[in-house]
Amino acid sequence: MPIRKTLLAVAAGLALLASQGSTYADDAATAAVASDANGKYADKEGNPTYKIQEDGTVDWYTYSGYRRFNSECHVCHGADGAGSSFAPALATSLKSINYADFMAIVAGGRKNLSGGNEKVMPAFGDNKNVYCYMDDLYVYLRARAVGDLPRGRPAKHENKPDAAKEQETSCMGG
Ligand code: HEC
Repeated sequence: MPIRKTLLAVAAGLALLASQGSTYADDAATAAVASDANGKYADKEGNPTYKIQEDGTVDWYTYSGYRRFNSECHVCHGADGAGSSFAPALATSLKSINYADFMAIVAGGRKNLSGGNEKVMPAFGDNKNVYCYMDDLYVYLRARAVGDLPRGRPAKHENKPDAAKEQETSCMGG
């Protein structure tokens, strides 16, 4: 099955799960690194998370997420996720949006047509520049929301792991 079909199917399933969920609140403790798979970090639930060292060095995926966000999402959501009059500040939203909901919203999009609004979050499930980097976007925004990651390009980052290179090649090529 092509990867984007798989992703959409997963997102649809997650959206169902998400709609049954209760209020979610993320914080630095929940997001704490519990495991490290060659430079890809996860929290104790196994969800992707960021790692920021004392000298400000970020993990590769957070850095990559910064670059992707500020090329694909910032036009609506503001530089560094700070928000705009058109779309919410994701540096705040991600305090209450979990990984599954995030994936579902970004892959499937969302419309808010209430009260004369015409605010549309496009579906990115077909856009490789986004869906190949979902985890990167998630950990970057998570770091912005609960990890005290400052605005702007992170000055220092870990090297790109081989696994990230392999995943990128297979996703972008497939
Ligand atoms: C064309 C403008 C536009 C672009 C580009 C865009 N978004 Fe959105 N996004 C929106 C709007 C508008 C909303 C609010 C929709 C609503 O109110 O239901 C939204 C909502 C969201 C939400 C839910 C926020 C909340 O507080 O509930 C997430 C998460 C999100 N976008 C992620 C992204 C990511 C990640 C990207 C880049 C890959 C992106 N968006 C690109 C317009 C955009």
